[in-house]
Amino acid sequence: MIPMHKVFMPDNIDEVMEPLRKVIESGWIGEGPKVLEFEKQISDYIGNPHVTALNSCTSALQLALRLCGVGIGDEVITTPMTCMATNEPIVLTGATPVWSDVDPDTGNIDPESIRQKIGVRTKVILAVHWGGYPCDMDEINQIAREHGLKVIEDCAHAWGAVYRDKKIGNHSDFCCFSLQAIKHFTTGDGGVLMCKNEQDNQRSRSLKWFGIDREQRRENRFGIAEWDIIEAGYKFHMNDIAATIGLAQFPYLNEIVAKRRGNAAFYQENLQSLQRVKLLTEAEDHISSYWLFTIKVEDRVNFIRYLAQNGIAASVVHARSDSHTIFANYNSSGLTGLDEFSEKMVCIPVGPWVNEEDRRKIVAVIREQCW
Ligand SMILES: Cc1ncc(COP(=O)(O)O)c(C=O)c1O
Repeated sequence: MIPMHKVFMPDNIDEVMEPLRKVIESGWIGEGPKVLEFEKQISDYIGNPHVTALNSCTSALQLALRLCGVGIGDEVITTPMTCMATNEPIVLTGATPVWSDVDPDTGNIDPESIRQKIGVRTKVILAVHWGGYPCDMDEINQIAREHGLKVIEDCAHAWGAVYRDKKIGNHSDFCCFSLQAIKHFTTGDGGVLMCKNEQDNQRSRSLKWFGIDREQRRENRFGIAEWDIIEAGYKFHMNDIAATIGLAQFPYLNEIVAKRRGNAAFYQENLQSLQRVKLLTEAEDHISSYWLFTIKVEDRVNFIRYLAQNGIAASVVHARSDSHTIFANYNSSGLTGLDEFSEKMVCIPVGPWVNEEDRRKIVAVIREQCW
């Protein structure tokens, strides 16, 4: 079976195991120099100096909502076309998720729908780059500026994606990335929060670890330095074991993204003329990093079964959030773009494990059924 997802590891596993062994033997496995080194590399890669390494993207989202001051009675305009991890943190703050519609040709949140959903309680717009294809960030940030709102980007799928000549991770108040097992690259589990400004970055660094301000040491009565706690925080930090795995993987990120783009270009070229397959729309200044390659088909259940019978895993990956019981009480009427996208979309394997033979087979199998 050609898998839909696969954990990335360098071919020479010693590249991970040797530094890992050193860290484990060093006696320091908590948050330390490896996390700082990893943050520096991510920061240089994205071009954003305000990077906090965390234990997951879900934590990054929760932290971003906290930094936006979201709480009971507030509303967050968000997309239902995502992982539950995007929208559960909203509910946990006591705020209400307000579903925006999505563009049926991309799966991304629709700026026009966002405008229609803004009310007096709206505090944040939360955008997800579906499959790694950048949302219309200029339009979304313009709406936010007009209404005094904050913008959070869920970039879990979007390592290496580019919007208008800048890597995703630079456009909004908060950008949340995932390093979970099957993402572009991984630390086992992990995440990163990138902030637009230094003040938020400082607060993020304090809140990730109980709200301790490590810059503000004070001496206790035994003459030993201790830290002050300035506000209640979380235990969201990354540890040096995770960072060491990330550092060993990081040199491969460009290659991973390039392979995904190569496979996507192959599919686009070879599936575009088919009657029964619709490709998603892409603008030239939105460059996807293809964590997913999504197509739209009419008879999805049989399509997925047919691919499975031919040794190809295909999947919807995420069910729309409003299909889950915990979100049943939030209004999801009138989401026609979402209805169309979520009923027809299906993802086919696009990761670096898909080799020339695999992708030819995938195209041939789809062509036979979907001419
Ligand atoms: C869109 C999206 N957001 C957030 C997450 C959560 O990431 P993590 O597992 O790092 O918390 C995922 C994970 O798959 C995701 O797909």
